[in-house]
This record gives sequence, C-alpha cells and structure tokens, in this order.
Amino acid sequence: MLSVSGLNSFYGDSHILHDIDLQLPAGCALGLLGRNGMGKTTLIRTLMGFVPAVSGRITWDGRDVTGRSPEKMARLGIGYVPEGRGIFPNLSVRENLVMTARPGPDGRREWTLERILALFPRLQERLDHGGQQLSGGEQQMLAIGRALLLNPHLLILDEATEGLAPLIVAEIWNVIAAVRATGISTLVVDRDYRAVLRHTDRAAILEKGRVVLTGASADLLQSPQELGRWLGV
Ligand SMILES: Nc1ncnc2c1ncn2[C@@H]1O[C@H](COP(=O)(O)OP(=O)(O)O)[C@@H](O)[C@H]1O
Ligand SMILES: [Mg+2]
Repeated sequence: MLSVSGLNSFYGDSHILHDIDLQLPAGCALGLLGRNGMGKTTLIRTLMGFVPAVSGRITWDGRDVTGRSPEKMARLGIGYVPEGRGIFPNLSVRENLVMTARPGPDGRREWTLERILALFPRLQERLDHGGQQLSGGEQQMLAIGRALLLNPHLLILDEATEGLAPLIVAEIWNVIAAVRATGISTLVVDRDYRAVLRHTDRAAILEKGRVVLTGASADLLQSPQELGRWLGV
C-alpha cells in the first residue's frame, strides 16, 4: 500500500503540490486525472524521489520512504514508466530490458525476459536492434517491459499512450489490463480520461497541485458534471 499525506513540493520557488493526501491500497488501480500542468507528473516524480518532498510523508508497505532516492524506490518494488519513456537509445532492446532487471522486494522473479517477450512479441523480433531504431510504440513497450522486469508491486505509467497510433494505444491498454490482472497495483496517468477510468478502481483529480476529488472510477465515469468541471470535457 502506498500512502501520501500532507505532501508539498516545489520547483525552485514555485509551489507545485499542495497538501496532497492519497491512498493506493495493495492490488488497487488508481487513475490520476487533471488538465495539463496540474501536477500529475510532479506528484509521480515526488513519489519516486526525483523531486524532494518539502513536507509531508510518503509510506510504502508501512514504512516511511519520504526522501528515498529513485533507485531505492525501484528496489522497494515501484516500477516507473516516465513520460517520454526514458529508454537508452544506444543500447539494444535486450540490454535495455535486462540492465535493471532484478527480483522484486520479496525476492520473487515473476517477470522474466521470456514473459516480457510473450507480452510484447514485437520486442522479440527486435531484441538486437538499438533503442533508437524502435518506433514510438515499441519504445513504450520497451519502457513498460523494463519496468516489469523489476518485478514491481506497483507500476506507475505517465502518459504511456502519448503520440501513439490508435492500434498501438489499444495494445498498450491491453497490456495495462493484463498487468492489473496479475495483482500488481497500478497508478495511471493518461490524457484519455475514459480509458483511465475504465482501467482503474479509483481515481483522483488534481487541480493546481491539489487533490480536488477522489472516488470510484466507475462512479466518476457516470459524473459528467464533475468531469466537466475539473477536466473541461
Ligand atoms: N522542471 C520544471 N521546472 C519548473 N516548473 C515545472 C517543471 N516541470 C513542471 N513545472 C510546472 O509544474 C506544474 C505542474 O506540471 P506537471 O506536473 O508536469 O503537470 P501535469 O503532469 O499534470 O501536466 C506546471 O505549472 C508546470 O509548468
Ligand atoms: Mg505530465
């Protein structure tokens, strides 16, 4: 379980996140919604330790992890697929995948290279290609595969479908659904709020760095007023 309380963070003098409270129970899929620039990526980057939490607390599986480095958070079982994918262009697909692979925090290795390649057959065909030779969709699959090879208990996806063709987008959502079905918790940010709400149990809406609404995703999907008010849709 991931729990955030009273979290504040800044970029320089700009106060971005304001008193964020958020719960993500084990096995739960949480959608994070909000218009552009509302703080979704900053929240994720603060959770992962890329941006300092100036005040507040982040706990993961009952332990205080506030201020831990991104490497430590990964070792504790949080896989992160950043906006922009962050793959290594000069390494091959295989190298990208195995470079950071390791057993999960409980010592288990449920995700192996073979299992990733079964999930993403396109990567199988391109194992020895360089990261920069891949299409955008393939790069996204590589980034997800790499995060899964950490055998995470939580997978965070920030705009995983951005800029991809509709067929590839559908494939990515299928993978997100397959990952969710394995019992891994997910935290999903995507511009397609309908898809987010369909693939999550609960959702939180951010507005100017504050959580303004949390609820069951299925309920929110039926609340055009709230969606209109906060997402402008
Ligand atoms: N590296 C940065 N330096 C300064 N301000 C930033 C930086 N990244 C984002 N911001 C600002 O922080 C706010 C939240 O941005 P972000 O978390 O990227 O929003 P979202 O992911 O919801 O689109 C925005 O006002 C944005 O301009
Ligand atoms: Mg963002």
